[in-house]
Amino acid sequence: MNTSAGQPAQALVHVNGQLLPRAEATISVFDRGFLFADSVYEVIPVYQGAAFRLREHLARLDRSLGELAIPNPHSNNEWSELIRELAEANGGGDLSVYLQVTRGAPEWREHWRDAPTQCTVVAFTGGLHPQPASLAEHGVRTILRDDPRWRRCDIKATALLPNVLARREAAAADAFEAIFVRDGYVTEGAAANVFIVSDGLVSTPPLDNSLLPGVTRDAVLDFLRQTGHECVQRPVSRDALLEADEVWLTSSTREILPVTWIDDHPIGAGRPGPVWADAQPGFSNWVREQTGWLPLTDPAQMDRP
Ligand code: PDD
Repeated sequence: MNTSAGQPAQALVHVNGQLLPRAEATISVFDRGFLFADSVYEVIPVYQGAAFRLREHLARLDRSLGELAIPNPHSNNEWSELIRELAEANGGGDLSVYLQVTRGAPEWREHWRDAPTQCTVVAFTGGLHPQPASLAEHGVRTILRDDPRWRRCDIKATALLPNVLARREAAAADAFEAIFVRDGYVTEGAAANVFIVSDGLVSTPPLDNSLLPGVTRDAVLDFLRQTGHECVQRPVSRDALLEADEVWLTSSTREILPVTWIDDHPIGAGRPGPVWADAQPGFSNWVREQTGWLPLTDPAQMDRP
């Protein structure tokens, strides 16, 4: 039996060094991740038992932890081993690994207290979302909303309430994703980065504190450059978005998704465009060719990023 999240009911969950059946995988109600969203997370795709861009995901995790001044509890090799074991224990194949580190569980709730606590580490597997055949025909619908989030969206924090509410609004409008706009410029989706294609040129907003440095975003830029597509990182205005020939969403669990509608506005001809149709299959294969595990071959880079 599968849960709605695609996770088998008998799944094993990692909690602070132990692999436990999901019903026994529990943490304290005083955990600061639960009380304050005082925590960060990663979602790492694993294809046929090997992770994609693990080093980049672990570097982003280390940076997110650093921004919250939570000491990284593991070296890269320890993380690699933890993720590999978890993926194997849950059947291997194609899946995603979610991992979260919180500032831990003190004895009572207090916004800040200097006494250090042991951080909490939780990890479990989930599904990847293979692209349905209908995607090439219909693409996905989105909504456009003002970005209500804080100014540190570069941190992969678990404080995702605005993202959750935007997804709720999208679902109510029969759409898949919400695209955020701040001061007239696109930041990102509720759980994806945004690309546009205009006159053959692929653009994505430059990295700053208003968006997550997506690992897939980076991989797509690398892939496009390697395959001779012209692409740039530059601000994307609301008008440029709506007038684009193509709009894409990228994330670790969905690769490149073509957007065909933004609210009541069709993108291009209201069908996925030719640049997406050309890039996505190649990208999908390329991603699967570049998987692996730490330890890295370069011993100088074997520990923390
Ligand atoms: N989210 N922007 C936001 C706000 C995201 O939540 C995500 C991914 C991305 C894409 O990042 P990446 O390419 O590294 O997956 C951009 C994950 C998948 C999630 O929250 O489940």
